[in-house]
Amino acid sequence: MRTATTLIYRVGEPELKYLLCQHVWESSGHARFIRERGRELSGFGAGESVRASLRQLFTEAVMPTDAYVALAGFYQVLKPALLSAYRHYLRITDHLADWPSKKLVEEFIADEERHAREIQPYLGKVDASAWIAHLQTAVSALGGLLGETTAVPLPADFKWESVTGPYQHPETCNRGIYPTCSSVFSHDPEETPIVRPWLVDPKTDARVIRLMVYVWLMMEMDAVDYLATVFFDTPDAPFDMHHDMARHLWDESRHSQFGFRQLPKLGVDLMTLEHSLDLYNILVQMPPHERYAMMTMEFEAGSFPTKALVMDRIRELNDFEADTLLAFDRNDEQNHVRYGHRWLPEIMALFGETRPADEFVKATQARFAELAKTYGGRTPHALSPEKRLTGTKILKLAGVA
Ligand SMILES: [Fe+2]
Ligand SMILES: [Fe+2]
Repeated sequence: MRTATTLIYRVGEPELKYLLCQHVWESSGHARFIRERGRELSGFGAGESVRASLRQLFTEAVMPTDAYVALAGFYQVLKPALLSAYRHYLRITDHLADWPSKKLVEEFIADEERHAREIQPYLGKVDASAWIAHLQTAVSALGGLLGETTAVPLPADFKWESVTGPYQHPETCNRGIYPTCSSVFSHDPEETPIVRPWLVDPKTDARVIRLMVYVWLMMEMDAVDYLATVFFDTPDAPFDMHHDMARHLWDESRHSQFGFRQLPKLGVDLMTLEHSLDLYNILVQMPPHERYAMMTMEFEAGSFPTKALVMDRIRELNDFEADTLLAFDRNDEQNHVRYGHRWLPEIMALFGETRPADEFVKATQARFAELAKTYGGRTPHALSPEKRLTGTKILKLAGVA
């Protein structure tokens, strides 16, 4: 989970980001089942920390500067190694002795085989052969993830990239072929697609609100990208924290997909919709516990009143799909704020933060505002006002102007 999440903000295709979020969430489920079954067995490790040799391998896998090389390493070396370990486990485990874990592992294998098929369209775009060989050597030195093969000692000239320096998140996230900007929110209909006062103005046509809220949902890709940075930075988090964060991440990727799927149906050319980068750019400057605090206690906790108004307006349209997607979005968001209350004190503790949570949140909000002056607003509009989707264009698309 800590390795695969570093791919998310580094790759540019929205569908690939979404797919990675789904795979991370499913893998998190596998891990939780393994732990649950493990707890029933006397020989299972009592702690949750990852064995040092495995951590070294998975940390190595984040190192390539080219995200697509890292993607190839993860999906063409680490995931196949996991799959072969699962298959080995099935072969050697007596079904009378451990029927429950065998049934689980059969499910995991089916998922891993599907993951391999699903990622296929995104592989092979760069030459990753040297990196694949490098990681394969590291896996062979372990004798596979379960020690199921004969360990081949590392060659004398093998160099761990992760020893030369720590991995760092990029300063900005990758949105591939899509145009970018700082923010999709403003008060100016000639500037951005979401015009804040229109969202809450009872005179705004509900069809306009529907288009704006789908833009808003699609831009939850922000949340996908910056939440994905928190996993790698919290190696000592309890597993349950990463499990809830993986769910959180997958939820945001689904919310973003709501917009990604619905906007073209409503006539929006996605190549005219600029992606906002400010939140990632500012948050990546903050330590992980501050990122998580801003996300759950500020952005999410603060979004309910406006979203509630928006949902009421959308209901006028008798658009069952829109109502349903928004209802699920609200339900998920309520869980996210719950996660925030559950995990904020724990993630604060991981970074030695001892102030009471609300005091810490207030200080973090102030720090965010300060950092926004330097790191916010730095992404100019990629498209001219004539080309990009704006509030004014949304009026036309909605048929009210
Ligand atoms: Fe969301
Ligand atoms: Fe959320």
